[in-house]
Amino acid sequence: MAIEKILVVDDDSNLLEVIRMRLESARYDVVTARSEEEALNALEEEAIALSVVDLQLETTDGITLMENLHRINPDVPVIILTAYGTIESAVEAMRRGAYSYLTKPFDARELLFQIDHAMEKRKLTSEVKRLQGLLEEKYDFSNIIARSDKMQKILAKVSIIARTDSTVFIHGESGTGKELIARAIHLGSGRKEGPFVAINCAAIPENLLESELFGYEKGAFTGAVQSAKGLFTQADGGTLFLDEIGDMPLSLQSKILRVLQDRQVYPLGCKKPVDVDVRIIVATNKDLQKEVENNNFRQDLFYRVHVIPVDLPPLREKKEDIPFLVDHFLDKFGQRMKKKVRGITPQAMQKLMLHDWPGNVRELENTIEFAMAMTQTNVISEDLILQTNIPSQNKLKSFKEAKSEFEKEYLQNLLNLTQGNVSKASELSGKYRADFYQLLKKYDLKPEEYKR
Ligand SMILES: Nc1ncnc2c1ncn2[C@@H]1O[C@H](COP(=O)(O)OP(=O)(O)OP(=O)(O)O)[C@@H](O)[C@H]1O
Ligand SMILES: [Mg+2]
Repeated sequence: MAIEKILVVDDDSNLLEVIRMRLESARYDVVTARSEEEALNALEEEAIALSVVDLQLETTDGITLMENLHRINPDVPVIILTAYGTIESAVEAMRRGAYSYLTKPFDARELLFQIDHAMEKRKLTSEVKRLQGLLEEKYDFSNIIARSDKMQKILAKVSIIARTDSTVFIHGESGTGKELIARAIHLGSGRKEGPFVAINCAAIPENLLESELFGYEKGAFTGAVQSAKGLFTQADGGTLFLDEIGDMPLSLQSKILRVLQDRQVYPLGCKKPVDVDVRIIVATNKDLQKEVENNNFRQDLFYRVHVIPVDLPPLREKKEDIPFLVDHFLDKFGQRMKKKVRGITPQAMQKLMLHDWPGNVRELENTIEFAMAMTQTNVISEDLILQTNIPSQNKLKSFKEAKSEFEKEYLQNLLNLTQGNVSKASELSGKYRADFYQLLKKYDLKPEEYKR
């Protein structure tokens, strides 16, 4: 076990030495201080576990010093030493947060006893705090379903980056949970008591975006009858979520870049900048690197926001999460609709597992909400699943897409028929063997998988 460090503050150097010897022989590490300044420095510099403070110091009184120590670290217990006959001040010290007090002259064994006791208690409180932290962490992420390996890795990463103050760049197709993750990062951070302000850069008209973001002074433009705070200032002390940042007009990108560099905003019509303390999280479903290459997105802004990337996989790449997401949504809508539904039939589940989910988790959520609203029984049957999503399935494909789909299916059928015999398959299709192999390669089909 690590040796605990104890800070002893007294202006009597003899007494300091006596206490040091006593504590060191009891296997404590001792740091001594003879003034308030030395004491505060020591607490800031060293990992102090407890402090012993004389009530009557020459320059300050021990109670003020104790309060200043607590301001730096409220978790360090303070034991007060007081001269005989000043019991009132000792009681006052207790009232203001001292752990205990001893009257001089004191018995060294008594001091040790109190120190041991305080240490024990401190260990308990820090353990309780640690457990509370774990609970909180769990709570923040409890609404995120992440059974697949891919999502587990992402959550592990997210719980680490939450505690930093770095800019996070979330990329993922529509409906993959970008905003959900952004909120979890905020709740898992030191800023969780502060605001979480989300802005959809694609949804606000270009001419309003600037006043929305930076605010304006009274009279800055017609209609500005009083000044208004922008979203940057509203998010002060918290997190600003710039959603769909890939859709931000170029003219605004340079202004945002300046804010991110200087951490200051200029409200419209205002000459003086306003300081802002915000953590930035951005999200996009676009390939922003490509947008940079096509000159739709500023490269310098890209580098500024692309600090910690988080890539959310589409639902079709984490289908093992589907059953758990279904349970989660059944629960959620069950509560909301005050309806008890036990689950879905195996056929319904199969339908969900086979679907491609272009709208990702949001599409699955809507599917379950619809089925839940419609069902007359307490198990959802397949006829209530995906019947409303026909447009996305029947959406007209390009000729190229349709042709490759046909080719792939045709080849799979041939391989099934010939049980993976390529000579037979190429003969049946009227293709040369070499050409046939080329086709198999194109679609990543392996004949050996069709052998029975
Ligand atoms: N892993 C998950 N667990 C539980 N719910 C999820 C998960 N991922 C997404 N969702 C839910 O799916 C819906 C869509 O998520 P969200 O709005 O965060 O997606 P998005 O990526 O921001 O979408 P868009 O690009 O369309 O804005 C939300 O209701 C969210 O709660
Ligand atoms: Mg979103």
